[in-house]
Amino acid sequence: MRLVLVGPPGSGKGTQGPVLAAHLGVPHLSTGDLLRAQVEAGTDLGHRVGEVIDRGELVPDDLMIAVVAAALGDGTAGGYVLDGFPRTVAQAEMLERGDSPLAAPDLAVHLAIPDAVVHERLARRARDEGRADDADPDIIDRRLQVYRDETAPLIDHYRDRGALVTVDGDAAPDEVSKRLLDAVASRR
Ligand code: AP5
Ligand code: MG
Repeated sequence: MRLVLVGPPGSGKGTQGPVLAAHLGVPHLSTGDLLRAQVEAGTDLGHRVGEVIDRGELVPDDLMIAVVAAALGDGTAGGYVLDGFPRTVAQAEMLERGDSPLAAPDLAVHLAIPDAVVHERLARRARDEGRADDADPDIIDRRLQVYRDETAPLIDHYRDRGALVTVDGDAAPDEVSKRLLDAVASRR
């Protein structure tokens, strides 16, 4: 199964993605983790994207598409769980083109949580882990705004294609995992 996770910052994409991938027996890719590793390693790509991430803005679509294609190779027909990609309608449409290097998803899972919970979770992570884009509440608000403007339109995009499930992510992690596995099982 090819599955993409769509949800605001802190909704649990990175927590739940590996759980779903292990359950489905497919690879998992977080584009945010991948980009942060490039920044950490000081690569050319890392230099290009570091400031964009710290401002809470999105990396340009054409760059992202190349990065994801390079990371997953051409073995994507067998399945994947993607966390953080596609993140714009343009990225989703790229996946649907005949010449896409990646196979299009079967299902988009919308992980929904209220903004107040986003702030609580990311403030906690800022204290525990020190992720730069969590440190400033104004940057968290910017990430939420970018989510609403650029990413949330994917919800209608996948709903129109009959390929959307929405899961309430505002619960303990194990409960959210259970909800996700139930939602995915109902669509297999
Ligand atoms: P990305 O890393 O994807 O950041 P994000 O979408 O803001 O999401 P987060 O990673 O903050 O949250 P999450 O949903 O993974 O939640 P998590 O499980 O960690 O992207 C970062 C940046 O990279 C973007 O801003 C952009 O610049 C760039 N980028 C990435 N992909 C891109 C793309 N395709 N195109 C363009 N640019 C791109 O949970 C959050 C916290 O809450 C954790 O501490 C966790 O332990 C805790 N938590 C999780 N679940 C629960 C729960 N149920 N109860 C309590 N706490 C919980
Ligand atoms: Mg994440």
